[in-house]
Amino acid sequence: VAPSYFSDTLINWYEKNRRTLPWRDTTNPYYIWLSEVILQQTRVNQGLPYYLKFMKAYPQVKDLAAAPEDEVLRLWQGLGYYSRARNMHHTAKLIVEQYNGQFPNTYTELLKLKGVGNYTAAAIASFAFKEQVAVLDGNVFRVLSRMFGITEDIAALASRKVFQQLADTLVPASSPDTYNQSIMEFGAIQCTPVMPDCLFCPLQQSCFAFTHGMVQELPVKSKA
Ligand code: ADE
Repeated sequence: VAPSYFSDTLINWYEKNRRTLPWRDTTNPYYIWLSEVILQQTRVNQGLPYYLKFMKAYPQVKDLAAAPEDEVLRLWQGLGYYSRARNMHHTAKLIVEQYNGQFPNTYTELLKLKGVGNYTAAAIASFAFKEQVAVLDGNVFRVLSRMFGITEDIAALASRKVFQQLADTLVPASSPDTYNQSIMEFGAIQCTPVMPDCLFCPLQQSCFAFTHGMVQELPVKSKA
């Protein structure tokens, strides 16, 4: 399929099927960063109350930076992976001290921040700054693997290059933010790991996995 058909179809699907989530209604990089760090190893339903709690306690990055670490860790209680909270606090202080309280506004600069990996840097760069860069998470791997018949093992580090190259060709210049939200939401709701809703999928006829009877086989994922 042509990239524009793929992205238009996903965005159209998203506008009809999206969940209302508070971090989707902001372009504030601090809020986007906060939400993505919380959601890294956490489900939306579990992470949502924490996001609201942190926004309320620390409305600006300078508020988080000024907070004592034990308070931040107490607010984090129940989410696990406490290194996320420590890195977050560290990065908040760095943003205030070295970046004049302003988040860097490119993917490459964002990557330099502690606790900010490829996924989070791409999420902030596209959602906050409309940079034309593709987010890659488990949902995106699955959608691309099925749509384009990619049989590379998604658990293998080397596969990332193949997926990133393809993903980058699909991000539209006009709305990289909406497109990225769309493909992740599509993977979360429609193109699910188990029992994807192929019957009502707007991409059914262009999907490699569907047209080749390989939906159950894709993506390929070795056991870690
Ligand atoms: N999980 C991680 N990031 C997300 C986002 N931006 N929207 C919904 N779920 C997510």
